Amino acid sequence: MSADLRIEAALKVAGRAVFPAETPATGLLYAALVEAPVASGELRALDPTAARAVPGFVDIVGHAEAEGLKASSNTALIRERTIHFAGQPLALVVAESPGAAEQAARAVRLEIEARPAVTALDQALDQAYAPKLAGRVPAETRRGDAATAIAGAHLVVRGRYETAVNNHHPMEPHAAVCVWEGERPTVHTNTQAVFGTRAAIAHAFQLPADDIRVVARYLGGGFGCKGPLWWPWMFLAMIAARRAGRPVRLELSRAQLFTLVGRRQETVQELALGFGADGRLVGIEHDVLAQTSTHGEYVDATAAVSRWLYACPNVSTTHRLVRTNEPQPIPMRAPGVAPGTFALESALDEAAERLGLDPVELRVRNFADRDQQADKPWSSNGLLECYRVGAERFGWAGRPAPGAARDGRWRLGSGMATACYPVHRQPASARVRISGEGALTVQCGTQDMGSGTYTVLGQMAAAQLGVAMADVTVELGDTWLPEGPYSGGSMVTLSILPAAEAAARQVRAQLAELAVTDEASPLAGLPVEDLEFADGLVRSRSGNAAEPLVDLLRRRAPAGLEAEASATPPEASDVSGMGYGAVFVEVGIDPDLGELRVRRVTAAYAAGRILNPLLAKSQHVGGLIGGIGMALHERTVTDRATGRILGDGFADYLIPVHADMPEFDIALVDEHDPHLPGGVKGIGMLGSAGVQAAIANAVHDAIGRRVRHLPIRIEDLL
Ligand code: MOS
Repeated sequence: MSADLRIEAALKVAGRAVFPAETPATGLLYAALVEAPVASGELRALDPTAARAVPGFVDIVGHAEAEGLKASSNTALIRERTIHFAGQPLALVVAESPGAAEQAARAVRLEIEARPAVTALDQALDQAYAPKLAGRVPAETRRGDAATAIAGAHLVVRGRYETAVNNHHPMEPHAAVCVWEGERPTVHTNTQAVFGTRAAIAHAFQLPADDIRVVARYLGGGFGCKGPLWWPWMFLAMIAARRAGRPVRLELSRAQLFTLVGRRQETVQELALGFGADGRLVGIEHDVLAQTSTHGEYVDATAAVSRWLYACPNVSTTHRLVRTNEPQPIPMRAPGVAPGTFALESALDEAAERLGLDPVELRVRNFADRDQQADKPWSSNGLLECYRVGAERFGWAGRPAPGAARDGRWRLGSGMATACYPVHRQPASARVRISGEGALTVQCGTQDMGSGTYTVLGQMAAAQLGVAMADVTVELGDTWLPEGPYSGGSMVTLSILPAAEAAARQVRAQLAELAVTDEASPLAGLPVEDLEFADGLVRSRSGNAAEPLVDLLRRRAPAGLEAEASATPPEASDVSGMGYGAVFVEVGIDPDLGELRVRRVTAAYAAGRILNPLLAKSQHVGGLIGGIGMALHERTVTDRATGRILGDGFADYLIPVHADMPEFDIALVDEHDPHLPGGVKGIGMLGSAGVQAAIANAVHDAIGRRVRHLPIRIEDLL
């Protein structure tokens, strides 16, 4: 068995990993949500009489009960009676069975004053406004004078690019099992942030954080949606559990994942690139229009990628938002970067064609050897190597001329694009404990979304102490553990590494001290710097002296040893961290049927030190699959008449399945980063950006057609 395999894999495969919704609870009640039938209006009254008559009905909680919560953006939707989107929960019913809860929820009578709803971006363009921030960065930036540079450019490529609403759809829907012991709640919920969830509960219920426990041992994916937008519905379940004095379980349906937990916002992007005769960018204008809800502001930093991905002295970027009565957007895998690179990398391909340059060569010519937006050097940058390695493995140089390749009914095309994602980091703490028998336990209150956090955290500690992975236990997903980071922004591994390694090094230092001061040890009297911990041994680097770690522990620390350490990112850094990749795609198109198959994907990624190559490749493949879904399948559609989601199930919302998947050839390019802790960058988001444009560029190569919107549909190819 490979040491790189997930340490929790056997539990999951055997069905013994307990996911939050499966948490056993005595006397459990089941919850169902009462949903708004209109997309805009005011709830005037709610009549539960018929619901109460349903056998098994226990309770109903709504605005009256939620008014007791502290006002905040997390509680507004359940405290205020305004209806912002169709499907918005107006109350929560609990009953003795899931069926009774559903039936009772449907029996609740609602008196609603409906208002006209804005159900599409184009209905309120005149009310578009400029937010201050896009994600974490300014929404509008100017460097140099892009308009003048583009006006005088040798070549201008100008286009409008559109990307659809996508929904995250982790395999495991959101759930909470809420249990109160007096005024102390425990909530088992599949969140990407147990500590963030605890803080939200503490604020809403005005409870001390220490009295609240949030547990998320295992998650079946998240991709950005297991965060704040879920909290109001969880709060309703908590209120119901407190009133009933019994545990309550709320689990969302697949349909509710289209409305209640966020979405990737749609974008309309106007992009203009100006080039000199030498193929160098002289100006970029990137203007983004996107949807947000009527109750919350969210904007992906979609144009931000144009600020730093390529060298260019004149760059102007803007974001504007339109409020509609549709669900609230939230980050979704490679937020901003995925739609932003679709536009930028598509336009670059068009420029390469018009300049008569190879698309890789054009990108190499425009390589940014420093972060021009932040005006800082990169912490490291392996992008040029990604182009070289990716192109070589794909056979880019030997590809057929555009439109020339055929395979039976298929017309073949090749395309490429750059992938990137910024490095983020959060404070983290970790505890490492070794028992008197040599069993190693690592604890951190971050959570594993399914990305491999259990495994890499165990590997970090095991490597420091020379302990075999078979002797390692990792405990995650519990606010009773040392505080760990939010699982998002590709930041978990980088954030926890310095804390976990520091805790493990402290344990190692204690053990080394015991060894050199113990007359019974063959290492007695050696300098501690001469000791190394490997293969279950404490041994001298310079001589032959060694003893099994377990022998030392049994003699000198039979009760075991432990240490806890924290690591905080610096307030400011004089370098910019960025992970990079180059994605190469071959597609086949049947022009008679409009069928498009991604036949091959080769991707080379440079993202610092790779702790676990198998899991890293799995993350990249997962990201690429999501990117293929965004490029070819996924599109959430709102019915303009009612504001409801059309086809809110997997029968209608297409997602990529096994039969859609090509072979993935993933190259992990060696990258030494001297600035980041352990030389580690994030990798989770990197695969999700770039492949969309590579596919669109391959479509153009195959049939000569530029598709400037996602997803690319059959009718675009006929
Ligand atoms: Mo993410 S889109 O920060 O889970």
